[in-house]
Amino acid sequence: MTVAVILDLCYGDSGKGRVCHYLAKDFDIGCRFNGGANSGHTIVIGDNKYVTHLLPATVFYPGKVSILTPGVLVDPIVLKEDLKLVDTLKGGVAGRIIRVDSRCPVVSDKHVATDEKTGGKIGTTKRGIGPCMSDQVNRTGPRWGELYPATTFDAAEYLYNHIRRGRNVIFEGAQGHYLDLWHGTYPYVTSSTTTVGAVCTNAGIPPKMITDVYGILKPYTTRVGEGPFLTEEFGPVADFIREEGGEYGATTGRPRRIGWLNLPEVRRAIEMNGVNWVVITKSDVLDKLSSFPVCVDIGLKGEPIYREIQGWETPITEVTKSRDFPPKFKEFIAFLERSLHLPITLISVGPECDQMVKM
Ligand code: IMP
Ligand code: MG
Repeated sequence: MTVAVILDLCYGDSGKGRVCHYLAKDFDIGCRFNGGANSGHTIVIGDNKYVTHLLPATVFYPGKVSILTPGVLVDPIVLKEDLKLVDTLKGGVAGRIIRVDSRCPVVSDKHVATDEKTGGKIGTTKRGIGPCMSDQVNRTGPRWGELYPATTFDAAEYLYNHIRRGRNVIFEGAQGHYLDLWHGTYPYVTSSTTTVGAVCTNAGIPPKMITDVYGILKPYTTRVGEGPFLTEEFGPVADFIREEGGEYGATTGRPRRIGWLNLPEVRRAIEMNGVNWVVITKSDVLDKLSSFPVCVDIGLKGEPIYREIQGWETPITEVTKSRDFPPKFKEFIAFLERSLHLPITLISVGPECDQMVKM
């Protein structure tokens, strides 16, 4: 029995959807446990690119179970779009089990309109997340089961029973550690919990049932919306990374802010979430750089202290075995493992499902 949680250790957009899609093959049940349609998970299968906003990546496999647990803010219009997408896949909606917990808060047009008016200061995704969450905290917002009385699905009970029977469950995080309402860069955060505890409070399973926590990282950092970004980079190299990595919001299309990897911040996120596996995505984006900095420490005045990493200057998108990585790339990965005190278990070298190298 494996109960895995997939988390982004920075500000979102690390490719969690893509990692979940790869891992989901070995899982029976996939769940979203936080956020809402503010997230956008991009999955590439052959020549097709799919973006889902609410449904977890298990939905790409016929026969698997996909669940929205409480704590996921459900916009029925967006859910309908996701379902329409699923209907284009083999087996369609009828060939899968898709369930929404009756306690999920419902995002209304009014929430979206309010977010459009007031979300500018934070740079929200304008998906109604903050206003919907306010109504939930005020205990005035409608929930899924009231809108659709025929649905009485209890995700917490379902998951408890299935995990006890040995089912493998994957929990797909949304956003990232530093966008957490409590532990992020408040007020420049999202209106939900993006840290591991949300699996327990939102999906309603006990902490002891979680067996694996995967932390997802890019070898550089991005951020969309306002808020502090210590290692932010401007100018040509940032523009190069944005273009090379397609760093534009999956939900809003906004250009993402670009910066360097901040190891002290990542370490803190690893500690707080009990991460035991690290996955590196989008390494190939840096293939052409002769060198790039990584923040290894924070100075007395709060300034980032960088170490210059030598680039590998070799395309790695075709690599399928870890021994075939260029030597400089292997050195970089070894440096990350030493710095993070954790094994790196998977490295993605491109957007396609099988462009994933097991370490
Ligand atoms: P909200 O979640 O739409 O209220 O936006 C609050 C902040 O979180 C803004 O800075 C957004 O850009 C950011 N944010 C929300 N969802 C995502 C995501 O999926 N990836 C990255 N940033 C996000
Ligand atoms: Mg995203």
